[in-house]
Amino acid sequence: MALEVLKDPQMISPASVFYFLLLPLLSLWYIYWRMSRRHLYELADRLPGPKGLPIVGQLFDVLGPASSVFSTVIRKSSEFPHVCKMWLGPKLLVFIYDPKDVEILLSSQVYIDKASEYKFFKPWLGDGLLISTGHKWRSHRKLIAPTFHLNVLKSFIDLFNENSRNVVRKLQSEGGKTFDCHDYMSEATVEILLETAMGVSKKTQDKSGYEYALAVMKMCDILHLRHRSLFLRSEFIFTLSKYYKEQGRLLDIIHGLTKKVIKYKKEAFKMGTRGSLAKYEWTENGELITESLNGNSNGNAQKEEKVKDEKVTTVEGLSFGQAEGLKDDLDVDDNNVGEKKRLAFLDLLLESAQNGATITDTEIKEQVDTIMFEGHDTTAAGSSFFLSLMGIHQHIQDRVIDELDEIFQGSDRHCTFQDTLEMKYLERCLMETLRMYPPVPLIARELQEDLKLASTDHVIPRGATITVATIKLHRNPLVYKNPNVFDPDNFLPERQANRHYYAFVPFSAGPRSCVGRKYAMLKLKILLSTILRNYRVYSDLTEEDFRLQADIILKREEGFRVRLKPRKPQASMKSPTPTNTAAPTMS
Ligand code: HEM
Repeated sequence: MALEVLKDPQMISPASVFYFLLLPLLSLWYIYWRMSRRHLYELADRLPGPKGLPIVGQLFDVLGPASSVFSTVIRKSSEFPHVCKMWLGPKLLVFIYDPKDVEILLSSQVYIDKASEYKFFKPWLGDGLLISTGHKWRSHRKLIAPTFHLNVLKSFIDLFNENSRNVVRKLQSEGGKTFDCHDYMSEATVEILLETAMGVSKKTQDKSGYEYALAVMKMCDILHLRHRSLFLRSEFIFTLSKYYKEQGRLLDIIHGLTKKVIKYKKEAFKMGTRGSLAKYEWTENGELITESLNGNSNGNAQKEEKVKDEKVTTVEGLSFGQAEGLKDDLDVDDNNVGEKKRLAFLDLLLESAQNGATITDTEIKEQVDTIMFEGHDTTAAGSSFFLSLMGIHQHIQDRVIDELDEIFQGSDRHCTFQDTLEMKYLERCLMETLRMYPPVPLIARELQEDLKLASTDHVIPRGATITVATIKLHRNPLVYKNPNVFDPDNFLPERQANRHYYAFVPFSAGPRSCVGRKYAMLKLKILLSTILRNYRVYSDLTEEDFRLQADIILKREEGFRVRLKPRKPQASMKSPTPTNTAAPTMS
C-alpha cells in the first residue's frame, strides 16, 4: 500500500504524508524519551516494589474511592520493609518508611523541593510557604517562623480558652446523640486561627468558620482526584472538566475570607491598632461589653498587646510534637520568655511590608491562604482522631480525666500555660494519636539529585517523587513493638529515648518542618482538655471500623462519630468567663 502511494503522486495528500510519518516519528520520540530517562529506569529497576502492569504500572490501583486507594497502597507496600516503588504511568513514586532514610531526606538542605503534585495547590496557595522553594521560601520562612515562637503563642492563651469554651457550649446541642465531631473541630480551628495568627474577629466571616472549612475539604477532594487521575493532571483537560468550575466556586469562598481578613487588618493597622482585634472586654460583673473591636473606627483601638509575664517555665524536655533531639528554627530561645517582643503572624507581615521588607501584597495573601489551610485542617483532623480514640479506649480516657481533675480540682478556671505543661498523660495520648493517625500521612519531595538510602544499598534516582509515608513510618514494626495498638506509653521518656529521632515526624522535621508545630500542640491541649473537663466521650465504633481516607489530610470516610455525656456541673457552659479584666475565679 505504502509503495502504491509513493508510485502515484496524486495519492500523496498532506494528510497521508502526515499519517505515513506519524508512527516512525512517535517511535523515535519514544526511544529518545526512554533514553533521556535511562538513569531513572536503571535505578528504578533495582528498587523493590509490587509488580505492576506494563506501561501503566500501578495506575489502576489509585483509581476509585480515596479510602480504597489508601488501603491498597498500604497493603501492597507491606511486603517491603524499608522502601517500595510504584509506577503511576510514567511517574516513579518511591515510598520510604525507615527512620534512617527519613532522616537523610528530611534533614537535608538539598532535597527540599516539593513534588510536582503540590503544583495543583497553586491557584489556591500561590507561592505560599508550603509550596515555594529557593530564595523566596528561605526568606519567607525566616520571616514567618518567629511569629509562631512560644512568646507569641502565650499571648494567645486567653483566645484559645474562650474559643474552646465556645465549642463546649455549642456541643451542648448534640445532647447524647451520635454526631460527627469533625464539623465542630473544623469550625473551631478556623475561628481560632482567625482570632490568633490572623488577629481578626471570627465575625470577619459572613457565615461560620464551617463554610470556609467545608470549601477547603471540597478543594482537597479535587486536588486529590487530580493527583490520582492521569487525565486531570493535564491543565488543558482539567479546564474542560466540571471540576474546574467547581474549583473556581470554592476558591471564591476561600479567597473571599482571606481578602477580608487582610482588608480589616490593614484598616486596623492604619488606625495604629496592633495585636488581635478579637480581644474580649468585660464589666466588673463579668458581663461581656464587646467581643470584637473589628471595624470599630471610633478610636477605641486596642493597644498593642503585651505578652503576659507568666511564671517563667522551663520548656526543656517538652516535646511540642517531636522527639526531643529534633531541633528546628522554632526551638530558638524558648526559655527566654518575656525578653523579646515578637509579633503575631499577620501583624508581622503587614509591619514588614510597611517597613519596606521584601513582601508584596500578593505574597501576604498567599501566606495568609497557606496558614489558614495548614493551620486548621490538620488540627481539626488531629483533634477529631483524639476524641474518637478517647471514646474507644475508655480506660485511657479515665486516666486523662483523672489528670485533668488533679490539675483543675473541679474549678472552671481558664487553662494556663503552666497547666498545659502538667498535662503529661494527655500529651502522650495526643502524640500517640498523631503517631497512629498522622493528619499529614504523606510528605512528598521531587528529587533533583540521586539519594542514597541508609537502610539498604538502594539509590533513588533524580526525577523520582520520594514520599515519606508517615503513617507507615509510625507503624513500622521494626521500630514500634505493637504498632497497631493505641498505647500512649509509647511516649514515655524512656521509650522515646531508645527510639530513632526520625521514627516520629507528624510535623515533618528539618528545614521544611511545620512552622505551626508548637501552636498546634498548645492549642490542641487547651481545646481538648476543655472538652474533656466538661464531657466524657463515647464511641460505638472501634478502630477496626475506621475507613481511613488520605485525601491530602487524613480523615475517616465514615465521619468522626462520637457521643458525649456531660460529666460535671458545667459552669463553663453557662456564660463566658472574664478574661482580660477581672482575674478568673479560682475555687
Ligand atoms: C496537628 C497539626 C499539624 C500537623 C500534623 C502538621 C503537619 C505538617 C507537615 C507534615 C508539614 C510538612 C509538609 C510537607 O513537607 O509537605 C507541615 C508544613 C507546614 N505547616 Fe503544619 N501541621 C499542623 C499544624 C499546622 C499549623 C497550626 C500551622 C500554622 C498555624 C501549620 C503551618 C504549616 C506551614 C506553613 C507549613 C509549610 C512549612 C514549610 O514548608 O516551610 N501547620 N505541617
